[in-house]
Amino acid sequence: MKILDNIADLKKEISSLKGSIGLVPTMGALHKGHQSLIEKAVNENDNAIVSIFVNPIQFGINEDLDKYPRCLASDSKLCEEAGVKIVFAPKISQMYAEGKENLTLICPPYSAVDKLCGKSRIGHFDGVASVVAKLFNLTKANRAYFGQKDAQQLFIIQKMVRDLNFDIEIIPCPIVREEDNLALSSRNQYLTKSERALALNISKALFEAKKLAKTNTITKRAVIDNSLKIMEGLEVEYIEFVDINTFEIQDEINKNTLMLIASRTPETKTRLIDNMKLFD
Ligand code: PAJ
Repeated sequence: MKILDNIADLKKEISSLKGSIGLVPTMGALHKGHQSLIEKAVNENDNAIVSIFVNPIQFGINEDLDKYPRCLASDSKLCEEAGVKIVFAPKISQMYAEGKENLTLICPPYSAVDKLCGKSRIGHFDGVASVVAKLFNLTKANRAYFGQKDAQQLFIIQKMVRDLNFDIEIIPCPIVREEDNLALSSRNQYLTKSERALALNISKALFEAKKLAKTNTITKRAVIDNSLKIMEGLEVEYIEFVDINTFEIQDEINKNTLMLIASRTPETKTRLIDNMKLFD
């Protein structure tokens, strides 16, 4: 496995690869959620590439760019053991050679970003779409793997690929959870012991909503009220319901409903997201 930190070396290495290329874009601090994407990429392609880049342009000014966990040595070990061919971990100066204030951006439309995470994280999805487009171009990947954990991100990348005719297949991958159902996230490392216990109630609210949805008469209001009760102590940013195919906000729950939650923990203010389809 090669660990490359610059574009010239990456290009050289890519030109010598034979067969299909599967890309897993990440910001590192790899966990079992990332690992599931990586293993799928290794299994489904002749070559798997993992990018590890804490992308500054997708962080807001008051967000956790500086404290975001960075652990290239253990991340590389995980990739090597999974059978990855290349880890691409570029410096910021490689990705944004002409300055990140001076960059041509890909901006997903207002209709896709003016809700859910995009509403509080202004510019976040411009940063995500732009870096992912660069990674697609740099790696010449045939397939790229994204987690359903970041459902709005996945929707926006799929739309970008359709709108801009990228010649790449996007493979959605299911959410990986801890044994107690907390969705794995690099940000779980920030949690204190009591916050870790509190955070469990996010997935609990989703599983309870799924149970509630089995009764025909269920309303959005009833699911929200029940979720708020379960998540007492967390600072809820949103509880929303979208059509899984269009990502339009729904007035009523139906068989296409994806329920999404974002909330912050009370002490470390860690922002956690999770989601679940209410019907199988
Ligand atoms: P990051 O948060 O590191 O996530 C990388 C990929 O892993 C994303 O596609 C994310 O949805 C997936 N992932 C994270 N936790 C998961 C879990 N518990 N189960 C399944 N998949 C999970 O998302 C980003 O990085 C960045 O925005 C990026 C796309 C790399 C652009 O910078």
